Amino acid sequence: MEYFQTSVISNICISEDIFVMVVGRNGAPASAGQFFMLRATGSALTLLRPISIFKAEADTLHFMYRIIGKGTRELSTLRAGDTVSLLGALGTGYPIDKMSGKVALVGGGLGIPPLCETAKELTAKGVQVDVYLGYRDDLFAVEEFEPHSRDIFVSTEKGEEGYRGFVTDLLKPEGYDAVFTCGPEIMMRKVAAMCAATKVPCWCSMEHRMACGIGACLGCSVRTAEGMKRVCKDGPVFPSNIIFPNK
Ligand SMILES: Cc1cc2nc3c(=O)[nH]c(=O)nc-3n(C[C@H](O)[C@H](O)[C@H](O)COP(=O)(O)OP(=O)(O)OC[C@H]3O[C@@H](n4cnc5c(N)ncnc54)[C@H](O)[C@@H]3O)c2cc1C
Ligand code: FES
Repeated sequence: MEYFQTSVISNICISEDIFVMVVGRNGAPASAGQFFMLRATGSALTLLRPISIFKAEADTLHFMYRIIGKGTRELSTLRAGDTVSLLGALGTGYPIDKMSGKVALVGGGLGIPPLCETAKELTAKGVQVDVYLGYRDDLFAVEEFEPHSRDIFVSTEKGEEGYRGFVTDLLKPEGYDAVFTCGPEIMMRKVAAMCAATKVPCWCSMEHRMACGIGACLGCSVRTAEGMKRVCKDGPVFPSNIIFPNK
């Protein structure tokens, strides 16, 4: 884990309020489900903001983010050639090394981007990957999964594209060796409950407001079946049975 400054290569709006920023990797290690803390270099903001790895290429890191408030709005103003400050890669990601057979990835909204690098790393290991992507209305990033998945299932809430309804309606966990999920907590709870009922191991990626991002301030601690855990250090990816133990 390192703090470094690097150049913005591109920063493009791909959908309403959603951007993809590509920056120089500077040799930083990075794996699926981990995240970086980011801030525009020279920003007046005190804290960096956590953004997941969307894609880690040999020389570049790609981040997909939605404008929520000050920090993400400031990131969206960066142009090619500007400098961004990064801390990372941080956290514990998905257990790619332990996987074999068939894995389902279930993402909702801005929980979808980290599953792209996850699909890439799983397929590189010979795991069969099916992807379940839930959107409110407009689709984004679906084509990014095509090289790294066997099947892609898409849902939108009102049926503008794909299945009409929730992505969990499409999932049948019993056909898989494991399920990885990232997205709104209500969706991950449902996925965790379906996996528990069918005895399929499940991992979920938790979100929490963060200050330090490195496990020092305890500000992101959450109660789990194994005691208090820091989302930034012990997670963000956790086995679902310790995060949602009653499901
Ligand atoms: C491990 C991790 C990975 C993440 N990966 C991504 C990603 O890949 N793409 C992406 O778009 N976003 C991601 N996020 C969320 C992102 O970090 C926040 O949207 C961002 O920090 C908001 O900062 P801001 O300065 O724009 O908003 P602020 O000005 O800080 O906040 C604006 C409003 O949003 C609320 N808010 C801010 N952050 C959160 C949060 N984490 N949970 C609940 N409410 C919040 C605040 O309370 C406030 O009301 C991730 C978060 C975590 C913890
Ligand atoms: S953000 Fe400081 S311990 Fe997690």
